[in-house]
Amino acid sequence: MNADRWLADTRTSYDTVAVSYADQLREALAGAPYLRAALALFADLVHVAGGGPVADVGCGPGHVTAHLHELGVDAFGIDLSSVMIDVARRDHPRLRFEVGSMTDLDLADASVVGLLAFWSLIHVPDEAVPTVFAHFRRVLRPGGPLLLGFHVGDESRLKTQGYGGHPMNVHVHRRQPDQVAAWIRDAGFTIEAQMLIDPDKSVPGGVLFARRQS
Ligand SMILES: C[S@@+](CC[C@H](N)C(=O)[O-])C[C@H]1O[C@@H](n2cnc3c(N)ncnc32)[C@H](O)[C@@H]1O
Repeated sequence: MNADRWLADTRTSYDTVAVSYADQLREALAGAPYLRAALALFADLVHVAGGGPVADVGCGPGHVTAHLHELGVDAFGIDLSSVMIDVARRDHPRLRFEVGSMTDLDLADASVVGLLAFWSLIHVPDEAVPTVFAHFRRVLRPGGPLLLGFHVGDESRLKTQGYGGHPMNVHVHRRQPDQVAAWIRDAGFTIEAQMLIDPDKSVPGGVLFARRQS
């Protein structure tokens, strides 16, 4: 798949749905106890690692970034969609949000103590995933925790509308946790824990905790 094409399509799709996505997801964590538990554990790992900046990569409207802040984490958000970033700044004016792509992460080496990518890797095609994880490793301090959330499954599908029927043109990749874990290990991470959320649903959620090796 042409990199410029899928990145441009993903950006345009989320620019289109950003406002309705924010409206629909604003309170989502309130009804997601297992995700809140994962975020609380991640916050704890960041504190134990000494604290410092934490990147929420593919942050969307910033509700997870803000939740981490409430847990005492110095989180900031990065997203491909400039409209998402506008919405995140509007909803969380005291937090830092920047436009950027995880395929070309504009952060200095070892500049963050933790990194989170919640349901944002789902739009990255297989051939680009190793590049993304190489960036994650590069920007994380040695020993820093990584938290990934993704759709579990075996198929990829083209999403042509969403979040109130707005047009989208974005691929959504479901993956097995073992596949994601193998990619992370290859990039220089150690897997520390894995959660499978809603295993009885058609699309369970996968959550992986990993740590950058020294
Ligand atoms: C399903 S939303 C998830 C948003 C948020 N993390 C959450 O948990 O609600 C996917 C987000 O990933 C962003 N995204 C997709 N590809 C990206 C990339 N290459 N770099 C940065 N962000 C990306 C999209 O713009 C969108 O905001």
